[in-house]
Amino acid sequence: MDLYEYQARDLFEKHGVPVLAGAVATTASDARAAAETIGGVTVVKAQVKTGGRGKAGGVKVAKSADEAQQYAEQILGMDIKGHTVKRVMIAQGADIAEEYYFSILLDRANRTYLAMCSTEGGMDIETLAVERPEALAKVVVDPNVGIDAAKAAEIVAAAGFDADVAAKVAPVLEKLWEVYREEDATLVEVNPLVKTGAGDIIALDGKVSIDGNSAFRHPEHEEFIDHSKTDPLEVLAIEKDLNYVKLDGNVGIIGNGAGLVMSTLDVVAYAGEEFTGGKAKPANFLDIGGGANAEVMADGLDVIFEDAQVKAVFVNVFGGITACDAVANGIVAAYGILASHGKEPKPLVVRLDGNNAELGRQILSDAALPKLEQVDTMDGAARKVAELAAAAN
Ligand SMILES: Nc1ncnc2c1ncn2[C@@H]1O[C@H](COP(=O)(O)OP(=O)(O)OP(=O)(O)O)[C@@H](O)[C@H]1O
Ligand SMILES: [Mg+2]
Repeated sequence: MDLYEYQARDLFEKHGVPVLAGAVATTASDARAAAETIGGVTVVKAQVKTGGRGKAGGVKVAKSADEAQQYAEQILGMDIKGHTVKRVMIAQGADIAEEYYFSILLDRANRTYLAMCSTEGGMDIETLAVERPEALAKVVVDPNVGIDAAKAAEIVAAAGFDADVAAKVAPVLEKLWEVYREEDATLVEVNPLVKTGAGDIIALDGKVSIDGNSAFRHPEHEEFIDHSKTDPLEVLAIEKDLNYVKLDGNVGIIGNGAGLVMSTLDVVAYAGEEFTGGKAKPANFLDIGGGANAEVMADGLDVIFEDAQVKAVFVNVFGGITACDAVANGIVAAYGILASHGKEPKPLVVRLDGNNAELGRQILSDAALPKLEQVDTMDGAARKVAELAAAAN
């Protein structure tokens, strides 16, 4: 779960990481009031869960509360890489002398934590990492030890800080480790970590991702769950207890088992590229699990048919403990349930394989359901459904 900058800032403050005053606002007049309270120069910052806000015009220095209000008016509602700005943070203005970079992350490939640090932080860290990787120090952090004084000293030395700055930065890194560990984060990134004219070290921008698996020991993280962002179809799916994720394409996908559904997404994406020139793409992930009974199948089809972007649906089932005849009966019953709700079916391609596949196919043929066709292979079915979706666009 990614946090907004203002939430990261609050976590930093809680753990003693030096930050400046900041307040979140959803209207320009609240932004003005916040700027008045903070006083002096403030910075109006778009709160979106994506990078590059500054370059997109989402970070503006305001010399007065009037200006803060004007900038908030401009920034609220702005689109930054597909994210609509619904709130801004009003931050106290900093007198920046130097900008540094620091992050701690979970390095899954190497099964460890990794700290990255640079004396050249700011908005172009991605370019720096590619063009001059030697300017970005990477230091492995032992999960059992974390960033203690010795590790912090190692990191600042690797980054090449001058001795006086190094001595001030190192204790901040220890505090940031505390955030990482105690909040069960998978990422803590500060860009920029600044040195002010007065020589203080301050975290000016923060990105934190929390490991969702730790929710059970962090009831206080519940407030970070962003209900407004959740897609209405995902809300509907949660109500029906389905494992559903909305994607951007036009081919609805249903399968049994997360692995099969993942590979179905791939196969449909490839077929869409190869046979329709990219006009067909997966519209969702939906795993109806092992016990694919009629009700679950009806719920799944219901959610997918609700998606106006969906032009055709691929039901890909590999019969195991729940055999294909049960799944086929589920599909027939699902059509009945949907019809009783007055819902029109969309073109449906079904591929049944595995336990009792023959019988399942027979049941579907006998039922002669409208707009439903069967294809025996996964690749063949993916091509068929991609062509149907592309033709309907
Ligand atoms: N409180 C502040 N006072 C003065 N300058 C600031 C302040 N906050 C940010 N800035 C300046 O604006 C630049 C961009 O801000 P910030 O790092 O928050 O956004 P960003 O890097 O564009 O966003 P992202 O990290 O999402 O890519 C900073 O590098 C810094 O120079
Ligand atoms: Mg930044």
